[in-house]
Amino acid sequence: KKVLFSGMQATGNLTLGNYLGALKNWVSLSDEYECFYSVVDMHSITVRQDPATLRKRARALLTLYLAAGIDPEKNCIYYQSHVSGHAELAWILNCFTYMGELNRMTQFKDKSAKHADNINAGLFTYPVLMAADILLFQADVVPVGIDQMQHLEITRDIAQRFNNIYGEVFTVPEAYIGKVGAKIMSLQEPTKKMSKSDENPNASIYLMDDADTILRKCKRAVTDSEGAIRYREEQPGVRNLIDIYSACTGKTPEETVGEFEGKGYGVFKEAVGEAVVSVLRPLQEEVRRLEKDKTYLDEIIKNNGEKAGYFANKTLRKVQKKVGFPERI
Ligand code: TYM
Repeated sequence: KKVLFSGMQATGNLTLGNYLGALKNWVSLSDEYECFYSVVDMHSITVRQDPATLRKRARALLTLYLAAGIDPEKNCIYYQSHVSGHAELAWILNCFTYMGELNRMTQFKDKSAKHADNINAGLFTYPVLMAADILLFQADVVPVGIDQMQHLEITRDIAQRFNNIYGEVFTVPEAYIGKVGAKIMSLQEPTKKMSKSDENPNASIYLMDDADTILRKCKRAVTDSEGAIRYREEQPGVRNLIDIYSACTGKTPEETVGEFEGKGYGVFKEAVGEAVVSVLRPLQEEVRRLEKDKTYLDEIIKNNGEKAGYFANKTLRKVQKKVGFPERI
């Protein structure tokens, strides 16, 4: 079976973008691949975190993976920090990554502008840790939203560079980008991506928002004065709503446009809101049910963490040997 790896940060409140761009595809691909889904808490501390909040959010995120429908018996759902191989491989890969490559990363530029008081070395080498995540499991495919493409490219570059020196050690991974929903935009500034760190709460739909909030945010979404529901660049607000509706209902953008032809924005926005509610409500109910089952969650965390560690060590030992570390006796 081919291997799939993906992860999400336990930082901030997850948005509809995280769900439609990533998590939803994780579920649909999980039968086809041997899957590893990580809560990447080590990436989270590149920005200052309150320890108790981080711990709570990491657990909430793991619960969300389960609630979305990922079967923990068939797939591996675990905390990145529980598998020390991530850090060990990241160190080795740091020595095969150039400063110039990391300097080009747009996420680093954005984040260092935003957190100017804390431009730490971890923030700079963040993509190397991400490469280690993926390469540690010899992943063939990595389902992500469009914003992670640049990190995936550098992962491929690092893997190829390493393989050129030492032989075929790493599988060179491919990104999997969904057909719709790979870049959900802000509801208030539709030329900007929907982001959990947006300061305007109306810009994002959070996965745990209640129905009234979701309907209200959709109703207030910024559109334009064209008055026609068309899928084109000149109407980024409307296009984003078409993407959201299509991703939530499984329709293509063309089908959605056909369905609302001649209708007003008000009617359309209401339908978008309802489509989102019908996707998120069962997810929220499942999160609430799972949250109560402490022993069940703890068991998954323990078993899956060990399983991930076992796979990770296989790659790590191979890499350590290749670079010339003395063998263990
Ligand atoms: P993160 O935590 O920012 O986002 C998690 C996933 O959600 C996707 N996403 C979106 N998709 C569509 N529209 C949006 N507005 C939107 N916002 C976020 C992201 O593309 C991502 O797939 N560096 C990663 C986490 C990571 C990782 C990995 C991912 C660490 N190691 C290894 C894959 C493989 C990140 O910060 O994603």
